[in-house]
Amino acid sequence: METIERIKAHYQFGSDDVKNLVRLKPLMEKYRDEFVVEFYNYIKNFEEAHLFLKDEATIKRHQDALKIWFMDLFKGDYGHHYLMELEKVGMVHVRINLHAHYVNAAFHFVKLFIQDKLQAEFKDPEEVADLEWSIEKILDINLDVFTSSYIEEEKKFFLSQRVESYLIQLANRFSYGLNLILVFGLVVLGIIVIGLLGWNIYHITEGGIESGLLSTLGSLLMLWVVIELMDTEIRQLRGGKFAIKVFLNVALVAIIREILITTLAHEALEAQLTLVAAVGVLGVVYWLVARAEL
Ligand code: HEM
Repeated sequence: METIERIKAHYQFGSDDVKNLVRLKPLMEKYRDEFVVEFYNYIKNFEEAHLFLKDEATIKRHQDALKIWFMDLFKGDYGHHYLMELEKVGMVHVRINLHAHYVNAAFHFVKLFIQDKLQAEFKDPEEVADLEWSIEKILDINLDVFTSSYIEEEKKFFLSQRVESYLIQLANRFSYGLNLILVFGLVVLGIIVIGLLGWNIYHITEGGIESGLLSTLGSLLMLWVVIELMDTEIRQLRGGKFAIKVFLNVALVAIIREILITTLAHEALEAQLTLVAAVGVLGVVYWLVARAEL
């Protein structure tokens, strides 16, 4: 957290600047109300201003707060309390999610407004330049504090940055490890399915060729599912996108295999129709997901 003394030192804001600003106070008092009117004329061009200044009550509160803020620029006391006030205003803008760009643009207006008044009131260009210099500094200090509020908000952590990034790293590694175990499990499953396929081929003629062929086809489908799952898993481990389609694939294959079995067992027509309907629904969902993933 910066202290106001450090901030002032970085902007080389000294007693001459304080004198200049205090000197301007009575003059700026005269322009206080005009400042707010012109400020609002300026920010009404911001496309999203109405989203923040959404009703008369908010606008009134903001305009009153702006008058106080404007006059505080010339109050001569720029100590810790002043910094606290600025930080509070900065946080209000952050909390309402006001884009930092709007604040910067509004500051641009403030600078122009005050410069314009100085040029109208003072004839000596050197005097104007000297006063403008002090105005620049105090406005830059204000903008600095306002902007820091946005950065502070981004830096928020629950415990501490180091602990949290360590935890995230640990969770990442753990999840990578789990994925590797999953791949290993799929390899084992693949070997078992290959065994089953071999067994089915070996006994293809037992209990009728039709039944043997359908059982073999069932094993082939299972092998295909394992390959699909493994492929997806490997792609994800290499940093690819997680493909939700693969789960639909598995469900589709499982139901198609079930249809093969129920056909062989000559089960009731309703049971078979239910499975066919399920394949239809899954097929539509698969098509929609595939389109969305394109
Ligand atoms: C030079 C730039 C600006 C200054 C100096 C400024 C000043 C202030 C101040 C002093 C407050 C009161 C904070 C508090 O409650 O303690 C405030 C609040 C607020 N400001 Fe700004 N503001 C600026 C730019 C803007 C802009 C560009 C917008 C919108 C487009 C905006 C919208 C608001 C809103 C919505 C609030 C909260 C009002 C409420 O609900 O009470 N401000 N601002």
